[in-house]
Amino acid sequence: MAMIAAKCPDIQVTVVDLNQARIDAWNSDVLPVYEPGLDEVVASARGRNLHFTTDPKAAIKAADLIFVSVGTPTKTQGIGAGRAADLRYIESAARLIAEVTEGPKIIVEKSTIPVKTAEAIKTILSANSCSEASFQVLSNPEFLAEGTAIDDLNSPDRILIGGESTPEGDAAVEALASVYATWVPRERIITTNLWSSELSKLVANAFLAQRISSINSISALCEATGADVNEVANAIGTDSRIGPKFLKASVGFGGSCFQKDVLNLTYLCESFGLPEVAEYWRQVIHLNDWQKSRFVEKMVRTLFNTVTGKRLAILGFAFKKDTNDTRESAAIAICRDLLLEGARLAIYDPKVDADQIQADLAYVGIGEELFKKNVEVVDDPYTACEHAHGLAALTEWDEFRELDFAKIHGLMFKPAFVFDGRSILPMAALKEHGFEAFVIGKG
Ligand code: UDX
Repeated sequence: MAMIAAKCPDIQVTVVDLNQARIDAWNSDVLPVYEPGLDEVVASARGRNLHFTTDPKAAIKAADLIFVSVGTPTKTQGIGAGRAADLRYIESAARLIAEVTEGPKIIVEKSTIPVKTAEAIKTILSANSCSEASFQVLSNPEFLAEGTAIDDLNSPDRILIGGESTPEGDAAVEALASVYATWVPRERIITTNLWSSELSKLVANAFLAQRISSINSISALCEATGADVNEVANAIGTDSRIGPKFLKASVGFGGSCFQKDVLNLTYLCESFGLPEVAEYWRQVIHLNDWQKSRFVEKMVRTLFNTVTGKRLAILGFAFKKDTNDTRESAAIAICRDLLLEGARLAIYDPKVDADQIQADLAYVGIGEELFKKNVEVVDDPYTACEHAHGLAALTEWDEFRELDFAKIHGLMFKPAFVFDGRSILPMAALKEHGFEAFVIGKG
């Protein structure tokens, strides 16, 4: 919304959230999200045509287009628990829109939702609104990735808009397309029917996640054979049919989308009587979970089959670099497993604070007592390494490439072990300073 406001000064954009603290943060100098370049974009439009409020009724009344961007977390209980999307916030947003609308509105699904949600939204809207109200529901999934959001929004590969194939539907699609066309070339604005658009978001994320699980599966084979997964990735990525992107072996993908959307896709397939298709995609998640536990096993085995009481430095907790987001970060599962093995952890991440780390570990069963006893969150990587038996790099922050390994070697127990889950640490420096190094995907 900030980008739309920045690019289209004559469109008034109002962002509404019921959470006062969040809205206050969006109105302050310290935004609640760390994203390179976002501060400047918000500053360029806030107060002019970008407003943050906690009054949804007034904002809905005044709007021609309403982007529904509420959370659709994975259900934790009931039918489809652990896989299906929880649509309660979508439903309450639709009910609120219906209640206050008195004229024509275009409702844009921005949240990632299971196919056919637009139908549910339409039913709720028409059953709960007055006779003057009329609605068009569009699907407009977001493809930005965190850490590169501003570039992705500035020059997206494509904008996808799905709508009903009726004259009113076409007009609504065009209304939204014309907003993006302010800065996105027309040929990059793809229009489809509603269901294709809804499904394409899940499929795009499933294909991306599948690429990572594919290369991660090969990383294990490389370690076993003495091949180097980066060389393999480069060799296959130069085949233009395969392409070079998203072939970086890692400790496992994280983030708010991949796991959630693939699970959602498997649930959808099962609901439509396609268990084989569901099973096929489930393997993408299965391999990702395996990659994380494989990494922990490698650490424990290397550290003489025990990490009990040992101090381990953990560099990076976010699910990728350039974000403070930790949702589904591989670091969460890895730290949990190490703590359950009795390790003491010293965690450093440049953008993730101690409260967030404690909350994430609590969610996976690490109680306050164990956290206080065995986890220390520190302010710099060198403090993390003091008296450590091993060091694990879990997020590919650029600053980890610049670390002084002579200094680190002096701080750690000998032999000093490094586990690089992202292939980012300078191998030459590690060798020169006498580390025993394990790099994901290297034999
Ligand atoms: C993803 C999609 O890229 C985006 O289009 C969609 O809108 C939301 O989901 P995001 O989760 O923000 O975006 O980050 P992304 O860059 O896709 O990375 C996801 C995870 O995969 C991260 O944990 C990342 O470290 C990992 N990854 C990515 C790899 O392990 N290897 C790679 O080669 C690429």
